[in-house]
Amino acid sequence: MKRIAIAPSILNADFANLENEIKKVENLGVKFLHFDVMDGHFVPNISFGAPVLASVSKVSNLINDVHLMISDPKKYVPDFIKAGADIITFHYESYSSKEEILDTIELIKSQDIKVGISIKPATTVEEIMPYLFLVDLVLIMSVEPGFGGQKFNSNAIEKIKKLDEIRNELDLSYIIEVDGGINDKTAHECNEAGADLLVCGTYLYKSKNLEEDYKKLFE
Ligand code: DX5
Ligand code: ZN
Repeated sequence: MKRIAIAPSILNADFANLENEIKKVENLGVKFLHFDVMDGHFVPNISFGAPVLASVSKVSNLINDVHLMISDPKKYVPDFIKAGADIITFHYESYSSKEEILDTIELIKSQDIKVGISIKPATTVEEIMPYLFLVDLVLIMSVEPGFGGQKFNSNAIEKIKKLDEIRNELDLSYIIEVDGGINDKTAHECNEAGADLLVCGTYLYKSKNLEEDYKKLFE
């Protein structure tokens, strides 16, 4: 089994102490940092925007993995690029027309930024088939987007296997990322199914023994 990569989500970090919260996961050896951007409209919660990303980018060398859970994401792409995003993932469900999805993918790629598309638990892999040739990453939501600390939805496992199968058959190279309810048990299941990158929020930021729990993600 290949070694999976972990992207800690700062959504459940202590914002009064953000630089240290980032350093503590950086010291674990992670390469990615996951930013959950929520607008209180596409999802029933409000988190943070480009100004927080800009501040964090000054104190971290990690790959900024930006997850946009917002309406009309295309409008805000330039702000997040200016703020230091390395990967920008938007939701397939945030647009009803294929044109707007293609425009958003094109806009992100035109700035030499990696582009990802995300699907909620109720959305099938078949629905994003037309975009798999164009994206660098597919983010499978294993919880309903909007909050950390939720239970892992096992329908994500079949989606991982399907996406892994498709990329092998069609010789594509998108990254398979999974987000929501990741812990030592679900990490193992996702890794076995073919996932490459796992978002991890409360499991790491609420851990009483961070190094120990981090190691368990690879067992
Ligand atoms: C939820 C976010 C996730 C969340 C993960 O909408 O997209 O990234 O922060 O947190 P946990 O690991 O606690 O489910
Ligand atoms: Zn996320």
